[in-house]
Amino acid sequence: MSIVEETLVLVKPDGVARNLTGEILRRLEAKGYQLVDLRMLQPERELLEAHYAEHAGKPFFGPLVEFMGSGPVVAVRLAGHRVVEGVRTLLGATEPTVAAPGTIRGDLGRDWGASVVQNLVHASDAPETAARELALWFSRR
Ligand code: RTP
Ligand code: MG
Repeated sequence: MSIVEETLVLVKPDGVARNLTGEILRRLEAKGYQLVDLRMLQPERELLEAHYAEHAGKPFFGPLVEFMGSGPVVAVRLAGHRVVEGVRTLLGATEPTVAAPGTIRGDLGRDWGASVVQNLVHASDAPETAARELALWFSRR
């Protein structure tokens, strides 16, 4: 039996600004995952604070919310068997400087010395997180 799972992917403002949206979506599709829904938006601060609530209080939280609100993002609902784990593998480590070559962050990202790590793309880290995040990003049309 095939169990189809969903995840949330965000092309972050740096990915959109660098015209990498197509390349990032190409890699997700080429892997075999299904685009179910997609929207481009300028996220409100409230949405970003809810999205990254697990990091509230950490030193990088302010710069992170600021950076994520600095321009439009592309939100994607993506489906497939074990898609949550699979997309995290495609993204690579949080810091592009050490993300493995072959991954999106490892191939396309780099460190810019900014106040927060800019790593092009977000993906949910667990099925429960995905459900929470998808409700946040795809309920406000
Ligand atoms: P994301 O949630 O954006 O997919 O990234 P992630 O799971 O790989 O990393 P996470 O720990 O959830 O951190 C969220 C974002 O916060 C920034 N960050 N900066 N020590 C630091 O300076 C630091 N740690 C995290 C990054 O932009 C990271 O993507
Ligand atoms: Mg995370």
